[in-house]
Amino acid sequence: MDKKVIYSAVQPSGNLTIGNYLGAIRNWVRMQDEYDCFYAVANMHAITVKQDPAELRRRTLELVALYLACGLDPEKCALYVQSNVPQHAELCWVLNTIAYVGELSRMTQFKDKSQKHAENINMGLMDYPVLMAADILLYQAQYVPVGADQKQHVEIARDLAIRFNNRFGDTFTVPEPLILKGGAKICSLQEPTKKMSKSDENPNASIYLTDDRDTVIRKFKRAVTDSDNVVKASEDKPGITNLLNIYCAFKGCSLEEAEGEFAGMGYGDFKLAVGESVADVITPVQAEQKRLLADKTYLGEVLKSGADRAYKAARRTLSKVYRKVGFYEGN
Ligand code: TYM
Repeated sequence: MDKKVIYSAVQPSGNLTIGNYLGAIRNWVRMQDEYDCFYAVANMHAITVKQDPAELRRRTLELVALYLACGLDPEKCALYVQSNVPQHAELCWVLNTIAYVGELSRMTQFKDKSQKHAENINMGLMDYPVLMAADILLYQAQYVPVGADQKQHVEIARDLAIRFNNRFGDTFTVPEPLILKGGAKICSLQEPTKKMSKSDENPNASIYLTDDRDTVIRKFKRAVTDSDNVVKASEDKPGITNLLNIYCAFKGCSLEEAEGEFAGMGYGDFKLAVGESVADVITPVQAEQKRLLADKTYLGEVLKSGADRAYKAARRTLSKVYRKVGFYEGN
């Protein structure tokens, strides 16, 4: 039987955080044996907000090296850059004709980004979810492993798949978001009710995957908490709850185990332990990423073979779509 397909991507639009790692990449690694996986660098999504071209190019390669350093195996999954497979833009165009302006203008991320980039509310920003739907539907993906903030986008991909299938006959697999507990919403260290984000202006709010051990420990030391000095998760303690979540995700333990371990201990020792649990995992990833970045030939080969694989799958779906909508096949 054919394996089920997994699709996901990250934008090369800033310094990746431990939220990106726990909400997405770490879970991708766990799925690569069981599923047929396509993982992209979403550079076409990234340009919906202003990017420095040289930096975008550099971050694209850094992200591929990071994928590999985190344990993605190019023999098992297709790793590629979105703009290298032209079918993404082509399918996006067709899907645009069944996506409604009303539903796109109501998307949370569109509203947030429009507020944040009021000087640049471009069509691409509004069309972001349709391009994302094209990504997913091109590969007939069954599951899309993402953090909780992307749920709404996967839902619109589902809606568009169903709408297209109803109008033109069975064409797309209807995808489901795969949001795993624990790492699905890692919060800011400075405002623990908000998600941790690559684009936060306060560098102390996020732990970047490039942060060295001392920086990681310092940022956790400064993390905002309450003052009752009891290491226990609860709704009225978002700071401590977030730190416990991070600790459990990096240590692979349950909340009860972590609470037991820190019972009677003060916040200072707890924060240090959280920092160490994170640094122990990300420091070796950084070393491996650096080693890989020195071998551009290898990275080029990985991307070429990933794009070839993606292209074949994408072409199959796109020609089906073109046939269904009545495009004349001239050559
Ligand atoms: P991006 O680059 O914003 O985020 C990449 C992934 O990281 C997850 N994430 C988090 N998870 C937990 N806690 C956080 N604080 C946190 N911050 C980010 C995101 O949910 C995401 O899974 N639109 C996508 C990129 C994309 C995509 C796709 C994803 C483009 N095409 C097709 C899936 C399928 C995005 O915003 O990525």
